[in-house]
Amino acid sequence: MSTANARVALVTGAAGGIGDAVTQRFLSGGWHVAAADVRPVASGQGLLGIAADLSDVAGCRAAVHQAVAWGGQLDAVVNAAGVWTEGAAADTTEAEWDRVMGVNLKGLYFVTSAAIPHLATSRGCVVNLSSDAGIQGNAGAAVYCASKGGVSILTKALALELAPHGIRVNAVCPGDVDSPMLRGQAAAYGAAQPQAYLDRLLAGYPQGAQARFIQPAEIAELIWFLVQPAAAPITGANISADFGLSAGIF
Ligand SMILES: NC(=O)c1ccc[n+]([C@@H]2O[C@H](COP(=O)([O-])OP(=O)(O)OC[C@H]3O[C@@H](n4cnc5c(N)ncnc54)[C@H](O)[C@@H]3O)[C@@H](O)[C@H]2O)c1
Repeated sequence: MSTANARVALVTGAAGGIGDAVTQRFLSGGWHVAAADVRPVASGQGLLGIAADLSDVAGCRAAVHQAVAWGGQLDAVVNAAGVWTEGAAADTTEAEWDRVMGVNLKGLYFVTSAAIPHLATSRGCVVNLSSDAGIQGNAGAAVYCASKGGVSILTKALALELAPHGIRVNAVCPGDVDSPMLRGQAAAYGAAQPQAYLDRLLAGYPQGAQARFIQPAEIAELIWFLVQPAAAPITGANISADFGLSAGIF
């Protein structure tokens, strides 16, 4: 059981780059964090690790239940579990479609769904991890784009549905974040030249020679702001943090 009176967040994908940065940011801000992932997350002071496969609806509901049973309340959900895929659309298998949609879209939706009664009690909020790929197409990544486009639009629909309950729902849409996902992408799809893959990504940024990847802590700081009272007017937003990557043609 968590200590009384601390605000409580459920962070999914908490073993990953962004999820871990969010967990650390919330802990340093005095919140307690229920940290769920399919990979192990150690429990600690104000921190509950929850082992959960969030591509499974029962797993989503159980994770929310565990978080509330431990924390006594739920003030925010940060949906950061996700997986990347790329490859020619002509070659996509049903299993790959299901794997990506299962985590990125279905899991995110059912974690949020299960959290609604608790967030209504606390007048809390949801922050979803979408992507620049949720608001613009990425050639060769149609399945991932479809999953993140779904996240971006369900964020808007839920913001409207849940506003009468005092629940805010927003999405952040990062460009390339220096995380295990990005490194994994480069390793899996870089044709044995992961650095060349990463260099190609940076070459598409408008900053030219100054281009760099976003740090997970930079995304965590934005998410931290979105759960504060100062963000009260912000709901239904898809907030880009991508160095302008999705702003238009450069
Ligand atoms: N890294 C980027 O460049 C980038 C850019 C835009 C958006 N995003 C999104 O941000 C979120 C976090 O990404 P990240 O960069 O931290 O990636 P990451 O791979 O470092 O972390 C993702 C985490 O999700 C977990 N996960 C995967 N499948 C799961 C499942 N079935 N159940 C529970 N947990 C599961 C993984 O174990 C991992 O710890 C993802 O939704 C990703 O799509 C990432």
